[in-house]
Amino acid sequence: MEVIVKESYDEVSRLSAELIADLIRRKPRAVLGLATGSTPLGTYKELIRLHKEDGLDFSKVTTFNLDEYVGLVHEHPQSYHFFMWENLFKHLNVNAKNVHIPDGTAKDIPEFCRKYEEDIIRAGGLDLQLLGIGGNGHIAFNEPGSSLGSRTRVKTLDDRTRQDNARFFRNMNEVPRYAITMGIGTIMDARQLILLANGAGKAEAIANTCEGPITAIVPATIVQLHPKATIIVDKPASAKLTREYPAEPHVLVLA
Ligand code: GLP
Repeated sequence: MEVIVKESYDEVSRLSAELIADLIRRKPRAVLGLATGSTPLGTYKELIRLHKEDGLDFSKVTTFNLDEYVGLVHEHPQSYHFFMWENLFKHLNVNAKNVHIPDGTAKDIPEFCRKYEEDIIRAGGLDLQLLGIGGNGHIAFNEPGSSLGSRTRVKTLDDRTRQDNARFFRNMNEVPRYAITMGIGTIMDARQLILLANGAGKAEAIANTCEGPITAIVPATIVQLHPKATIIVDKPASAKLTREYPAEPHVLVLA
């Protein structure tokens, strides 16, 4: 696990976009796991810039999103479908057929979740999964206490998560109570993980994730077991880390 501390959110976003772009350049048919929330927005802006200015080609890329609220139609402004198309996909040359986002309106949700797992495998597995982190240490919508081996399924959202996300809705009653989410096991099967965090509100979750014991109470701590995980944070999110961390990824230079 590599922890990188950047001066600013912009620098976090640039490095994370560069790592994703690097994968796509090496593997044009890359399978990306994508995240929502405010954290990855800077990464998405930078990927759009790389597409428009440097011709980064998404035409063969396949994407799978981490999660979606149950009950929100795709056109709902707070649905993750809407978020992803508005903030990323509509600005890229991605093929809509290659875009996968959990369907919170599916009639048979358990069957949908089973098929989502199957679709990831059929696509060749996730090459890279981008992650944010909840203030309570959740990844995707795997709330504290989630099985560390879990697969795609429905989760009940914690009160804290609903409160954190209430700012996007008119009132608390409108905040969905359930979400479909990739499981922690699903995420850990990705060949590479990039976890981003910015702002002081994430400092405790980041300290637990990087330096605390692995526990289902802080689901993000599982990334310590991943063979290729990069955690990129800005200064405020790094405030509770006790060790020194570099500002650049480690590059092996062979003589
Ligand atoms: C939601 C998403 C997570 C995300 C988290 C943090 O709960 N399901 O994937 O990491 O929010 O959001 P933000 O980046 O806005 O802090």
